[in-house]
Amino acid sequence: MARKFFVGGNWKMNGNKKEINDIVEFLKAGPLDPNVEVVVGCPSIYLTYTKSILPSNVFISAQNTYKVPKGAFTGEISPAMLVDNGIPWVILGHSERRNVFGENDELIAEKVIACIGEKLEEREANKTEEVVFRQTKAIADKIKSWDNVVLAYEPVWAIGTGKTASPQQAQEVHDKLRAWFTKNVSQTVSESLRIIYGGSVTADNAQELAKEKDIDGFLVGGASLKPDFVKIVNAKQ
Ligand code: PGA
Repeated sequence: MARKFFVGGNWKMNGNKKEINDIVEFLKAGPLDPNVEVVVGCPSIYLTYTKSILPSNVFISAQNTYKVPKGAFTGEISPAMLVDNGIPWVILGHSERRNVFGENDELIAEKVIACIGEKLEEREANKTEEVVFRQTKAIADKIKSWDNVVLAYEPVWAIGTGKTASPQQAQEVHDKLRAWFTKNVSQTVSESLRIIYGGSVTADNAQELAKEKDIDGFLVGGASLKPDFVKIVNAKQ
């Protein structure tokens, strides 16, 4: 089953209108490989603005949401609010949300980029599999349909550190995740689910990573703010 390559930009808490205009300019100039699904994760206050100026071949994503439709949760936005504003995607479970804001493994939304990944001390203690399987199970327990889910494997030690996982390291985990899906969900989901890699992806390392058979795209932080993002989108060409 062919899986469409997926590249998400995660702007994190970066950007102002001027910088967003510049990003939109290089996205428009592209050219972006038409075989790639491109999504940018934008700070919530700029979602509507960014959506209004993005070219039609780039989709928008929120970076987080709270799990109920409405209520007394000061500072939060809900999945229903995202849908009401035409924001189709949300990144959930990013390690910065888990580790800085103490979120756990819960998840509910429409189209979701769900993030998992081990910390350095967990990798060194040979716990990578245990951690990513546990995190994936917590997501799987809540998911009814996998059609609108993209799973992002992001080793925490690789995020924003300049230390990318090697193509072999990433492929090994992606392969194990696919086997986990075959065993615990279904063969169909295992074959159709896009598992993308995140953690210090750059224009220089994206091509090698994209050659691995179970790497179906990227979630890109730092480099998604720069014109290099176009090269990452086109890494498979
Ligand atoms: P990075 O971030 O590309 O800057 O390492 C990736 C992410 O946090 O999604």
